[in-house]
Amino acid sequence: MRPGFFLSFEGPEGAGKSTQLARLTRRLTAAGRAHTVTREPGGTPLGTRVREVLLDPALSMDPLPEFLLYSASRAQLVAQVVRPALARAEVVVCDRYADSSLAYQGAGRGLPAPLLASITAAATGGLTPDLTVLLDLDPALGLARAARRGQPDRLEQADLGFHQRVRGGFLALAAADPARFLVLDATQSEDELDAAIWAAVSGRLGDGGAPLVAEQNL
Ligand SMILES: Nc1ncnc2c1ncn2[C@@H]1O[C@H](COP(=O)(O)OP(=O)(O)OP(=O)(O)O)[C@@H](O)[C@H]1O
Ligand SMILES: [Mg+2]
Repeated sequence: MRPGFFLSFEGPEGAGKSTQLARLTRRLTAAGRAHTVTREPGGTPLGTRVREVLLDPALSMDPLPEFLLYSASRAQLVAQVVRPALARAEVVVCDRYADSSLAYQGAGRGLPAPLLASITAAATGGLTPDLTVLLDLDPALGLARAARRGQPDRLEQADLGFHQRVRGGFLALAAADPARFLVLDATQSEDELDAAIWAAVSGRLGDGGAPLVAEQNL
């Protein structure tokens, strides 16, 4: 058993991942649990540059190079942020992780699963979250929520069929690994989701823990 606890938030655009991640961060701070908050793509200086490329609406990108860019950001994040924080016995909370690539580049774009699995294993060294919160939402609703934020990014511009395949991809991943996934209906209120997530996280963390240290790696 490695120390620390690794939690990822997954789900389609506008499902409420970042909203619930902020709520959970406040809960962890109040509970005095040392934690590191980060996101994909991004989380490191290299990842932040890669993120700009990935989300740029002006760039066209084939599925394979897109996946390799996500994997590059992920490999740097695991090495530079996630593993060191877990070694310090912290709770690491990540806004999207490898399941997003399996859903978006696999189910969404059609890249073969064995290719995704082998490159993801290389990028992460096999590091898998202890718990993955999947906020499940009809993509039409999620995109409408995200649209209220302003100009759509490159992925938000993709067609609805793509986003429906992504949703199905996430649900298939969760069905294949029910011990790791907590699937929540993201049409619930922010308060309801926050309570359900905290019940699962606090239950898995148990009592005690490292002293309060909060880090931001966004
Ligand atoms: N439970 C909820 N019910 C209704 N609206 C919500 C809920 N949670 C978040 N929202 C709103 O939906 C929008 C998207 O939320 P948020 O940015 O947290 O989603 P996200 O999953 O992080 O999206 P993205 O994939 O684009 O990063 C925000 O305007 C937010 O206020
Ligand atoms: Mg977000």
